[in-house]
Amino acid sequence: MWKGRFQQETSGLVQRYGESISYDWRLYPHDIAGSMAQAEALARAKIINRKELAAIHKGLKSIKADIDAGTFEWKHELEDVHMNIESALTQRIGSAGAKLHTARSRNDQVALDTRLYCRAETQTIIGLVQNLQRALVAQGLKNQSVIMPGYTHLQRGQPVLYAHHLLAYVEMLERDGGRLTDALKRINVMPLGSGALAGSTICLDREFVAQRLGFETVTRNSMDAVGDRDYIAELLFTIALTGTHLSRLSEDIILWVTAEFGFVSLSDAHTTGSSLMPQKKNPDVAELTRGKTGRLYGNLTSILTTLKGLPLTYNRDMQEDKEPLFDSVDTIKLALEVFAEMIDGMKVNAERVRAAAGDPFLLATDLADWLVLKG
Ligand code: ARG
Repeated sequence: MWKGRFQQETSGLVQRYGESISYDWRLYPHDIAGSMAQAEALARAKIINRKELAAIHKGLKSIKADIDAGTFEWKHELEDVHMNIESALTQRIGSAGAKLHTARSRNDQVALDTRLYCRAETQTIIGLVQNLQRALVAQGLKNQSVIMPGYTHLQRGQPVLYAHHLLAYVEMLERDGGRLTDALKRINVMPLGSGALAGSTICLDREFVAQRLGFETVTRNSMDAVGDRDYIAELLFTIALTGTHLSRLSEDIILWVTAEFGFVSLSDAHTTGSSLMPQKKNPDVAELTRGKTGRLYGNLTSILTTLKGLPLTYNRDMQEDKEPLFDSVDTIKLALEVFAEMIDGMKVNAERVRAAAGDPFLLATDLADWLVLKG
């Protein structure tokens, strides 16, 4: 793109250092959807004609079909998903393909793609959170009469329903769902039209583009729009806190399945054996989740640290937003799914739980209350 003014090829090492195609290729459905809308806006502004619009749409669809089928060849020398798709389009349909980038920069394009990605994934995660809530409620319903010791300081405190303990996690997840829904408001804002940083002298109908892509509003300040990654930090925080909740549930389960507690057992499908000790049945899913939560925190710290020293507006540092984002999204989705399955297969050892809850000291508080009521 910038070859005109450069006399030297980019060094091979710089290409390897700067490419993002090896991980940002997965933005392609969003990049293509954004370009479809951009082309329509260009046609409305009479920058391209109907025939060119049709050619762009057809070309983008064929590229998407090839990527879906796994036959598209990604080129590392084309750096990122945006340039790969644009170059393939121009190759397939000729000069109309190159016109697509009119009034657009990769800076507002990557902001658009990332917002579309975050929106889709946030909606998926909200569904998975609800799914896990349902699994916890179902587990409580199956064991409605089970009473267990409730703990403070990991010391037996007072008797509680097993369902009450599980429903505490339903509350945490309810807040997670609420936070995700709230984050969507700030994710779902359309940045295209901001150009590199100062908009464009070629004015496209931004409201139209927003409506085509299902955005509720458009960004108001072009400099903020290309430099803003707050919505990623917010999503990563929300995911990190959901991880915290799953990690606490993990810790409860890890304790409950020990020989010492023996309160519940997990299904064979959700545990692993030991290569050395045949008696063991390990709660790996819970342990892995507790462990992976550390990575979710790392990803949040990573994005915050990337942003903290950046002057306005876009800086290449921002390319570093994607790997932590993708990693946190992938991790929490899988964790929520596997947890719902594991909770479904969890069996309570009624005998052990009853024995533990039968500890007469657990009623000491009730006895004290009774004495108060008796005056
Ligand atoms: N791959 C880049 C990123 O993820 C796209 C934007 C590049 N913009 C630029 N001016 N070099 O941030």
